[in-house]
Order: sequence, then structure tokens, then C-alpha cells
Amino acid sequence: MYRSHNCGELNASNINMEVTLAGWVQKSRDKGFMNWVDLRDRYGITQLIFDESRTDKTVFELAKTLGREFVIQVKGTVIEREAKNKNIPTGEIEILVTELTILNAALTPPFTIEDETDGGEDIRMKYRYLDIRRNPVKNSLLFRHKVAMEVRKYLSDLDFCEVETPYLIKSTPEGARDFVVPSRMNEGQFYALPQSPQTFKQLLMVGGMDKYFQIVKCFRDEDLRADRQPEFTQIDCEMAFVEQEDILNVFEGLTRHLLKEIKGIEVEKFPRITYDYAMKTYGNDKPDIRFGMEFGELNEFAQHKDFPVFNAAELVVGIAVPGAGNYTRKEIDGLIDWVKRPQVGASGMVYAKCNDDGTYKSSVDKFYDQEDLGQWAKITGAKPGDMIFVLSGPANKTRTQLSALRMELATRLGLRNPEVFAPLWVVDFPLLELDEESGRYHAMHHPFTSPKPEDMALLETEPGKVRANAYDMVLNGNEIGGGSIRIHDKATQQLMFKYLGFTEEEAKAQFGFLMDAFQFGAPPHGGLAFGLDRLVAILGGQETIRDFIAFPKNNSGRDVMIDAPAKIDDAQLKELHIKIDAI
Ligand code: AMO
Repeated sequence: MYRSHNCGELNASNINMEVTLAGWVQKSRDKGFMNWVDLRDRYGITQLIFDESRTDKTVFELAKTLGREFVIQVKGTVIEREAKNKNIPTGEIEILVTELTILNAALTPPFTIEDETDGGEDIRMKYRYLDIRRNPVKNSLLFRHKVAMEVRKYLSDLDFCEVETPYLIKSTPEGARDFVVPSRMNEGQFYALPQSPQTFKQLLMVGGMDKYFQIVKCFRDEDLRADRQPEFTQIDCEMAFVEQEDILNVFEGLTRHLLKEIKGIEVEKFPRITYDYAMKTYGNDKPDIRFGMEFGELNEFAQHKDFPVFNAAELVVGIAVPGAGNYTRKEIDGLIDWVKRPQVGASGMVYAKCNDDGTYKSSVDKFYDQEDLGQWAKITGAKPGDMIFVLSGPANKTRTQLSALRMELATRLGLRNPEVFAPLWVVDFPLLELDEESGRYHAMHHPFTSPKPEDMALLETEPGKVRANAYDMVLNGNEIGGGSIRIHDKATQQLMFKYLGFTEEEAKAQFGFLMDAFQFGAPPHGGLAFGLDRLVAILGGQETIRDFIAFPKNNSGRDVMIDAPAKIDDAQLKELHIKIDAI
């Protein structure tokens, strides 16, 4: 038996007990005649004591050779500590060691294995296994496990069945590029790794498996950000014989369950807002509603005077920033520079201070009187002491810019408290989205999403106006899940491919299997997928998903620990029928 107990469980009730522990040397304090060693494992730290007067000489001498991160096994007696440490569960006891075995020596680690480490991101990624020994990373992985367990429990209790779907498949369009795998046995042909199990879960519905879920890896070759990894995990779900309402209720229930079990927070029914409302009110389809600062459209009260910038604009829109009325000129100029940065791209910004006495002072006083500014305040909901910031220009662009400012100001004002959770549904997404470059329409969610029946007629005339039975779950400004009610008949699916610019042959070649299946009794169905990494990170109070993934990739999509991707040798290339000069 390597250990009788772990390093986190012994306390005063175990005094006089003979125990065996194993773990890593966190640190040792050698006082000459006395040597204390902190022994660490996943569960905690237990103090070991080697005492010249009480410990066998060879054991005592061997203890002096221990370095950080050595793996050791000790046998000894639990005794009461003289200097107790109330901060850790094992702080009342220590182990008077009688036997010491060095199971493995260790090199000095390249960074300290402490909660606050001296190691930068790059070095920690290179030695991720050492990073995992640190509490913050270890706890994130344990936290992720807990969330995954609760998901499995909740869905299994509702009769959902976890089914594994293949990783070597044909492309599933989710809007990103595919990672592809060459086939040795089929020269010149490639598998694609799934961007999601979308088509398979629909086939499972045709197969009669009416409630499916899977905690599953998905692969997308896209530009990486704090909330994106090239391989990430979905909680992928699908149900048959359901309407949108059923899906929203089940997965709202799941999210409420997680908030309660994991965070101890009870949340009321989630608000539901339409995509159009979200864009008009927050400039964003994943609004953070932990705070207000809702958009006020000011065209009516901004375009009747001689201010040419506003008169020329498609949209004039503002937000009231609470308590920002006392911003100095310098602070305001700083914000104007901030919105003018290329990442935001505004050409300028107008402001109006709401003085405590109910008057206003704006940067455009030349054009607008107190009554006009009073209207701006009314529409943006500004109160005395607030500041109104106004942007103008093409509607979509301006909304995006003001949304960026809204989030930035909320962060600066401390309104994005990670321990506050404000989930909501955004519904009625557009079915199609115009790609400005190609002038072609793309499916906004994916091509299997059904249009709202009442909007079908618009497909021919105004495709951009057709709404879909599609929904996203948003939590604290992050899209944590999305899904739709699917098309389940061949004719509509064919029509959809046609509108998306597929020829009949292309549609058949790529998705013939699905349309064939639809002819064999496909039930009405729909579903959604949560991003598990995102969900876990946000529940954990963070927005960077990397720390909740055991072995993540860096921003260039590299695993710096194993050094992947990497070249493969000529023989392997040949076997895969890949010509070296083509690379
Ligand atoms: P969608 O593409 O919206 O839908 O993905 C579902 C959720 O997965 C998460 N996500 C990601 N997380 C980390 N890194 C990424 N690169 C990444 N991409 C997506 C997001 C997102 O909300 N098949 C559909 C679902 C359905 O219709 O049922 C799908 O994959 O949190």
C-alpha cells in the first residue's frame, strides 16, 4: 500500500495513528537538529517532521537530501504540532517520520509550484504538468469535472442518453475551417474532424434516440481568442418531438441546476429577448445584462439642428454612463481616443454631462440647447451626475462601436462582477446573413436550422429578413450555447441548400446522407450545444477558457509542451499519398 491517507485528511482526531503518506516535497525547512518538510498531493499539504533526537539517523540524514518536487513515501506517527496553522485542515498535526523512501528525485522546477507563481504563461504551458500541480489550475480542472458530472446527472435523470459520435467524418459546416486527416487507405481523400456532431445527432433522432447528449470534443480551425480554442468541448444535445419552447425550458432548467449546485445561486426565469431587440438595445447579440447602459436612439432629437455629422448619419445613438458626469476633460479625451482606435473604429464621440442641478453641458452646445439635451437624457435614461456618450454613423457599425464602449466602461466602473450571474435567451435570430465580400447569403447558425414558417414567403424576396427558430443562451456577455429547431423534411432542406448557393449535385454530394434519412420517417427535432469550456470558465468567474483545459493550445494553435503541430517524416507522407513538394 503506497499510502494509508492522503495529504489533506489527517487532523487532531488521528493523533498517535501510524500512517503512510506519499506525495511531492513542497518545501523543507532545515534547522540543523530539526527538519520540517511540507508534503503535498492533490488533496492538501501535511507537515512532516524529522527530529535528530527522535528520528533514526539514516532517515534524518536522508531527509536533508530532499529537494523541491521530489516524490517520497513516508511512514510515521501523527503527533500534535507545537505551532498550529489554523489556515489548513491538517494544521494541528504533523507526522514524526520513521521511514522515508525517495520514490523519485526531481530537477528543480522552472517555476515555483505556488498559488502565485513566478512562471510566465509560456513556461507554464511548456511544463503544463507542473502547472497542474498548482492549486489554481488543479482546482479549475476539479471544478470542470464537477460541472460535467452535474450535467451528466441532470440530463440522465431526464432520460437523455449519452451517445458517442465519430471524429473521423466528412465536413460539417459550422462556419469555421475544418481540420482534415488524410486517409491512407483511400488515396487523395480526407476525413474532416467534426466542428460539431450536428448531422450525427440529427441522425440519432431519425434513429429514434429521442433525447441525446454528449460531452464531446469539437474541432474548428479559426482565429483564436480568450474564449476560443481549436479543440474545445461541447455539451451537445438534441431532442425529438419538441418545439422551441420545450428546448428552452429543458436547458434553462439545466443551467439553473448548475448555478444552484455549483454556485449556490437561485436564478429566476431567464429573460428572453429577440435578436433585433438585443442589437438595438445593446449593439450585440450576446448582451451583458448585469448592468444597464441601454442604448437610446437619438436620431429624432439630434438630426433637427445644424450639426452636419449627426445629420449625415444613419444612426445617432447614445448611452448614459452612471456617475460619470464628473469625468475630467482628460478622461473624456482618453475615451474619445479609445473609441477612435482601429479596433473600435469610431470617427469621434460627442458627450453631454448631466449636471447635478439638472442642466447639461455638452461638446456640441453650439448646436443643441438644454431642451434637446434633456431629450437625450430622457431617451438614454441619464440622471443628474451621469454622462451621455453619443456615437453616429452607419447603423450596424455604430452599434458595434457603442457596444464595445459600453463593455469597456462597465469593466472600468466595476459593473461586471464575476460573482453575479445574469443569463438570458436571445431568440429569433435571422436565418441568413449576407457576406459583404461575396455578396452571398450564409446560414447564420447552420444550414439545418428551420426558418419560421410565417417568414418562409420572404425567402424569395427579402432573405435577410427571414427569422429562424434559433436561439442562444447568453451568460454575462458570453454566448455559452446555441441551437435551433431543425428542418426535418427533404424538400425544405433541399430548398435551403439552394438558397445557400449549393447546386443540387453539391448538396447531394455533401449532405445526401441526411436528406436520404429525412425520407425514412424523420421526427420533428431540435437541440442546442453549450460550450463546456466557456460555461465552466464563466461559472468559475473568468472569461479565459485556457485555464479550465488541462492541455490547451496557445494563440497560434500550438501545443508548446509536446511541440505540435510538427512535421512528419517522408515515409509517413508517402504512405498518406501526400507529395512532399506540394507542401
Ligand atoms: P455553435 O457553433 O453555436 O453551435 O457552438 C455551440 C457553442 O460552442 C461554443 N464554442 C466554442 N468554445 C470554445 N472554442 C471555440 N472555438 C468554440 N466555438 C464554439 C460556444 C457556442 O455557443 N451544432 C451547433 C449547435 C446546435 O445547433 O445544436 C453548434 O455547434 O459556447
